[in-house]
Amino acid sequence: MAIRYKIRSRIYYAYNEIKKMSKKISLIGAGQIGGTLAHLIAIKELGNIVLFDVAEGLAKGKALDIAQSSGVTGFGVDIIGTNNYEDTKNSDVIIITAGVPRKPGMSRDDLLGTNLKIIKQVADGIKNTSPKAFVICITNPLDVIVMALQKYSGLPTHKVVGMAGILDSSRFKYFLSKELKEPIKNIESLVLGGHGDTMVPMTKQTKIKNKNLNELVKENKISKSKLDDIINRTRKGGAEIVKLLERGSAFYAPAASGVEMAESYIKDLKKTLPCAAYLNGEYGYSNIYAGVPVVISKKGAEKIVEIELEKSEKLNFDISVKAVKELFESAGKIDPTLAK
Ligand code: NAI
Ligand code: 2OP
Repeated sequence: MAIRYKIRSRIYYAYNEIKKMSKKISLIGAGQIGGTLAHLIAIKELGNIVLFDVAEGLAKGKALDIAQSSGVTGFGVDIIGTNNYEDTKNSDVIIITAGVPRKPGMSRDDLLGTNLKIIKQVADGIKNTSPKAFVICITNPLDVIVMALQKYSGLPTHKVVGMAGILDSSRFKYFLSKELKEPIKNIESLVLGGHGDTMVPMTKQTKIKNKNLNELVKENKISKSKLDDIINRTRKGGAEIVKLLERGSAFYAPAASGVEMAESYIKDLKKTLPCAAYLNGEYGYSNIYAGVPVVISKKGAEKIVEIELEKSEKLNFDISVKAVKELFESAGKIDPTLAK
């Protein structure tokens, strides 16, 4: 009996030591996306989770609920809820969804004033407590908010990125897979530019079994007008869900997309993923965030991949980056410290 007890306590001790070595992932915002992120991260056992929200009960309640599901799913990570940034101290990864989502009829840009104030509070909360974290921002309007977050926090640009392109590409792939009756895993795609109505689903970069969409149109596998409809539906993919839900916006696919970025960083997978990243001369732009293919490794946004864009793709990319720049100028009018 005594031996069995000793073995059991040693196993429990080792189990807790492993937990202590695990990565620490803080989720700022425990709303729809934050809660879904926590659940997915727990099931994948990517690290111990701190779920933070100004609404303390929401963070604590969701953390406890998810923790209680470990008895069924068997995951072995810790999860706590809090409204105190001290609990997020020394995080390896931070994913930010704090902010307000869209209501029907609103554009992502309509969220700017409110979410800018919130992101300043978040930047103040994380910059000194987790200076080495890899920070993934999801709050909208994405490209401008991630840029403001980087400026407010002063964290290195390769450690502050935004999630949007994975979601937009996933929507594009899903619509194509339904239209072409092709398993989604056979479709590769890229949606680049800003996360707004000007986003650019890249037809040459979108391949089904190594044939790109332009070739498939030429071969009449899909008509040009059908493809245009799908591109349009992808661009408006967020609004379609907002209209259906009536309160709030999409959260399952956005959370899955954020997790893919965090996983590539934590496991050093070096995946090339479409993310909002800081451009320093790439694609002809500097001092702006926009959606581009990025290698995510243990270093953070290790490298921006410059793919050759067709003339029309580059033209649309330029229009999209211009829209991000204009919105950032509006942010500078709301908070002149950003305009410096
Ligand atoms: P939600 O309303 O369910 O959750 C947001 C949470 O933020 C709330 O629980 C709220 O209490 C909290 N919060 C507000 N102020 C805070 C502060 N100062 N500090 C910490 N927490 C704070 O919203 P949801 O659906 O989770 O969406 C979050 C954001 O993500 C929205 O801005 C939405 O537009 C955006 N979004 C972005 C996508 C993308 O592709 N980048 C996709 C979908 C949504
Ligand atoms: C989405 O694309 C609203 O940005 C959010 O679902």
